Amino acid sequence: MSKKIYLYGNWKMNMTAAETKKFFDEFAGVYKPASDLEVGVFSPFTSLWALAEGAKKCGVVFGAQNAYYEAKGAFTGEVSIPMLAEIGVTHVILGHSERRHIFGEPDEMIAKKVKAVLDAGMIPVLCYGETLEEREGGNTFKVMERQLKSALEGLKPEEVAKIIYAYEPVWAIGTGKSATSEQAQEVCEWSRKLIGDPKVVILYGGSVKGSNAKELLSMKDIDGALVGGASLKPGSFLEIYTAYKN
Ligand code: PGA
Repeated sequence: MSKKIYLYGNWKMNMTAAETKKFFDEFAGVYKPASDLEVGVFSPFTSLWALAEGAKKCGVVFGAQNAYYEAKGAFTGEVSIPMLAEIGVTHVILGHSERRHIFGEPDEMIAKKVKAVLDAGMIPVLCYGETLEEREGGNTFKVMERQLKSALEGLKPEEVAKIIYAYEPVWAIGTGKSATSEQAQEVCEWSRKLIGDPKVVILYGGSVKGSNAKELLSMKDIDGALVGGASLKPGSFLEIYTAYKN
């Protein structure tokens, strides 16, 4: 049997509720569920109701792109995990490089969020990856070891196993210049060893599209893709899976 492919779309700060509804009207017409495919979509908070409706109809996983670790209180501008659970959210992207680098989220905060999402019975999609400067300075593995170890510290093995990992080299995100399949495989293989569980799900993210999907997704340690730009249209999103299969 072929491996199961995770095709997760990170919409970032795109897609209003109306656009989300339109996306799923079109998606429903072209999406063919397959036993070796899990599709997931992650929208902005304000589109989550529309996302929930569309995703449930199509039988795809849906989630948020962030959450705060406290349940409620004086945290202006934040959204809590119980608030997301109420809408039926099961997955939350955490530690995305845009959260780390634009909004200054430190490793310790990401670790608290990972723990809180797990405690709520939900699945964190934990992103990690190096900047170009870190790669060129020979620090790729040092940086990722720090990011991963800090997020996993104190977790039970069954919690570590529940997390979905997403290796996203910062220099490949939104640049059109994906990592080569060898570069992505090298890091995913290394990550699997560091995490210490051979069965964890590890996605690659960074300019994944139909034209590079086959070589990336065919790599042994890559279980799927976290897709930004190409996930905004049903056609370019689903093309990633069909390209891999054909
Ligand atoms: P991209 O984004 O596919 O547009 O490069 C990926 C991501 O940031 O998750």
